Amino acid sequence: MLILGIETSCDETAIGIIDENKKIYANIVYSQTKEHSIFGGVVPEIASRKHIEKIKILTEIAFNEASIKISDIDIISVTKGPGLIGSLLVGLNFAKALAYATKKKLYFINHLEGHILSVLIENDIEFPFLSLVASGGHTNLYIVENYCKYKLLGKTLDDAVGEAFDKVAKMLSLGYPGGPIVEKLAKNGDEYKIDFPKAFIEKDNFKFSFSGLKTAVKNYIKKNRNAKIEDICASFQRAIADVFIFKINEAIKKYNIKNVCFSGGVACNSYLKEKIRNFCRENNLKFFTPSPKFCTDNGVMIAFAGYYRFLENPNFQFSLSENANSRLKL
Ligand code: KG4
Ligand code: ZN
Repeated sequence: MLILGIETSCDETAIGIIDENKKIYANIVYSQTKEHSIFGGVVPEIASRKHIEKIKILTEIAFNEASIKISDIDIISVTKGPGLIGSLLVGLNFAKALAYATKKKLYFINHLEGHILSVLIENDIEFPFLSLVASGGHTNLYIVENYCKYKLLGKTLDDAVGEAFDKVAKMLSLGYPGGPIVEKLAKNGDEYKIDFPKAFIEKDNFKFSFSGLKTAVKNYIKKNRNAKIEDICASFQRAIADVFIFKINEAIKKYNIKNVCFSGGVACNSYLKEKIRNFCRENNLKFFTPSPKFCTDNGVMIAFAGYYRFLENPNFQFSLSENANSRLKL
């Protein structure tokens, strides 16, 4: 079976083609970073317009790269939410039109399910596993009981961790997206120089909060004009790693989990990956994380999730009235 995945929830126009044996035929991603960087963040109206401009040509490029035609596709899957509503609508309507015109099956996918399952594209992992999804829009901790079976333990009450990276980078005038730049500078900093606050370090509490950390960085910069930027970046990252490891430790103890997964755009961060990997090694846990191309938004993870939604409900008939949902729950 060949599955086409379409992803436009934020600022990446992404098309993926995969088969049921996880062979990847195409992974085409147009990132709009250039368009948004001068504003220091994603401008929703610009994002939707760019998706409209790019989606058809990128789909054609994906088919070319895979050396297949639309008639070879068995299933189409598309992100329904959460995300920016204008951006989601572009992908959703494109997918509905394509499926309707070619009489294909169409499955509507939660973007977070894509991120959770992205780690299975390159790894075989035994269920249940713990999944930490950390991106520009989300910081969610799940227990994954099986495909299509997710238990949300907790999420951020305010900023997502990727958003905190982006905002700290903006405060330091480093550019957008902030994550990779902060990571690079942190390599030459002292992670123990500043003790930034960590929220909800409490037993059995799986909630996250990063707005206090962000504000603490802001206040520190104001009061310490001559501080080394590298130290600020390193200490900021260490605060995040400490929170992640605390939450993972609480969850594996409470639910007796042996496999830990880390995905989403922030999982590109080598320092955070290393910290979690070391913690897992010391505690006899298996650690999995996707390669960076499957951490950031991509169409392959949506195609992959679409295949399992198909297995769950092979006779699903999509309705043309299906709508995008910017706050879709998993
Ligand atoms: O998953 P993603 O591509 O899009 C969303 O669904 O949000 O994640 C984008 C986020 C941005 O906030 C970006 O700063 C962050 O992932 N990011 C990183 C790194 N690379 C990307 N954060 C920390 N370290 C990185 N190396
Ligand atoms: Zn994402």
